[in-house]
Amino acid sequence: MKKRVFSGARPTGRQHIGNYLGAIQNYVSLQEDYDCIYCIVDIHALTTLEDTGNLQENTYEMMLDWLAAGLDPEKSILFVQSHIPEVMELHTLLSMVTPLGWLLRVPTFKEKARMQPHNVNYGLVGYPVLMTADIVLYKAEVVPVGEDQLPHLELAREIARRFNFIFGDTFPEPQAKLTTFPLVIGLDGVLKMSKSYNNYIELAATPEETLERVMTAVTDPARRYRTDPGHPEVCNIFRLHHYFNPGRVEEITSQCRSAGIGCVDCKTLLACGINTVLAPFRERRAVLANKPNYVVEVLAEGVHRAQVIAKGTLEEVKEKIGLLKRPFPEKVYD
Ligand code: TRP
Repeated sequence: MKKRVFSGARPTGRQHIGNYLGAIQNYVSLQEDYDCIYCIVDIHALTTLEDTGNLQENTYEMMLDWLAAGLDPEKSILFVQSHIPEVMELHTLLSMVTPLGWLLRVPTFKEKARMQPHNVNYGLVGYPVLMTADIVLYKAEVVPVGEDQLPHLELAREIARRFNFIFGDTFPEPQAKLTTFPLVIGLDGVLKMSKSYNNYIELAATPEETLERVMTAVTDPARRYRTDPGHPEVCNIFRLHHYFNPGRVEEITSQCRSAGIGCVDCKTLLACGINTVLAPFRERRAVLANKPNYVVEVLAEGVHRAQVIAKGTLEEVKEKIGLLKRPFPEKVYD
């Protein structure tokens, strides 16, 4: 039997090339060797959102990008976290075996508390417990994540281990599977590519928008004039050629070093490369966006398949804990 993979991502709307190179691409390739479950974690998003007005649209646009990028509902279970309320039930049960001290030490908690001192909510503290519930509800063994999620995964293993110790073997201890692509830096050349820093290129952008965005990118700061030789190793844009212009990296390197091409030329080449590589994605996305209800149908199928697993695990958990069985579960009382 194939091992089970679970991963989740917050509904950030249309995805950018950082999301693609850092996560989505990896999700797609894991589909071949694992039994994969991918989830848009809208409840987790509530820990930092102050405005929920875009949630539906962001969830929809993100799923459309996932599907166009090659996540295949025939191979993987694709669903939205809030559609499986069992995860919140499991979160409560796991919270009883999670010492508060563990949670207060988590670096992302401390950072978020610093960033939103006016909104240090209870859910923010429990974030890693909900994440653990996500993973262990499906008894996933492998969790593809970025490096920033390692403390969360460590905690997930500790919570699973503690539950198993107290109530008997129930959950596998999930292992992180780090994405191999190095962190994608944004157009500002400093921060990680992210919606919140407005330094990103959307996968679904038009070729014109792509060129326009690439032109705003910060390059080698030592190259002030067109005739200054460049230093590809310090230029953020350069790294992207490896993926978007794989056959031309050497040529671009030497042309940059000898000032044979300037930054504007280099950016034009990059935008062309991005537009070529993403053309099939963009076409598929347009086709899927035109199919009425396609995303809704995928999500309906996903929640159906996920819930079968979720219900089974939760039943086992309650039994192991020793909760009194609900009488006559098939009977509906008025
Ligand atoms: N915390 C993850 C992030 O911010 C998202 C997430 C929620 C997740 N639940 C998960 C990732 C379960 C992997 C597995 O990126």
